[in-house]
Amino acid sequence: MHTRQEKITMLTAHDFPSAHIADTSGIDIVLVGDSLAMVALGYADTSEVTLEDMLLHCRSVARGAQSAFIVGDLPMGSYEISPEQALSSAIRMVKEGRVQGVKMEGGEEMAPIIEKVTKAGIPVLAHRQNALGGFRVQGKNTASALRVLADALTVQQAGAFAVVLEAVPPPVATLITSKLRIPTIGIGAGAGCSGQVLVQVDMLGNFPPGRFLPKFVKKYGDVWGEAKRAIESYREEVKGGVYPGVEHGYAMPEKEFEEFRRAVEDTMK
Ligand code: KIV
Repeated sequence: MHTRQEKITMLTAHDFPSAHIADTSGIDIVLVGDSLAMVALGYADTSEVTLEDMLLHCRSVARGAQSAFIVGDLPMGSYEISPEQALSSAIRMVKEGRVQGVKMEGGEEMAPIIEKVTKAGIPVLAHRQNALGGFRVQGKNTASALRVLADALTVQQAGAFAVVLEAVPPPVATLITSKLRIPTIGIGAGAGCSGQVLVQVDMLGNFPPGRFLPKFVKKYGDVWGEAKRAIESYREEVKGGVYPGVEHGYAMPEKEFEEFRRAVEDTMK
């Protein structure tokens, strides 16, 4: 796709149904991001998510996505200590999580780790995030933009198959993209990247109005509104005796029921 200059689509999924819908909708790469900490597990941030959590969710996603390339995040603490630790975690992600590639956060300092994992045959997606975390924009001045470029060139050299650029001014991301052989996947980095990624629950509008969403998120749906409407109707109909209707029940021949009724009466006498 990159060679053909076709934009690469990437979307997160954290379980079987979200993977199934992304895959069925033709998404190229399904990412089991560690954002599942907040969007699926209710943790305050990604630091709580464990490798075991990731493995469980990756397996579920792998069962739901038959065509897309599946990438799983190596969670914090599972790869930073040494290249050997990273390789061992990456192997578990492939063998037990059934993903086809792993993503890891960091820049230049991750080069030996990326090299170790890619040399073992596991594709690595590098994720250039702001060292301070959160959604702070990086690359807003020359020094910072040069740092983003240097990191991208280093992870490319180390063997990463692509790099995620997060919260980078679009002209900077576009120029960096033009200087790389590998594709860039943007999130809050403008249209000049080789592809885009979003968190599925954010773009679907899966959360109540008023929840913070980064500026770069476009809401393509209102799943929260639709789900709430449906659940409230169900509640009302159960309370009001409207649901279940006759059409939701299973038929029994009247004669059989009469026999059953008589048997009950005889037993209960
Ligand atoms: O964890 C995640 O969902 C991510 C995306 C924001 C790229 O890393």
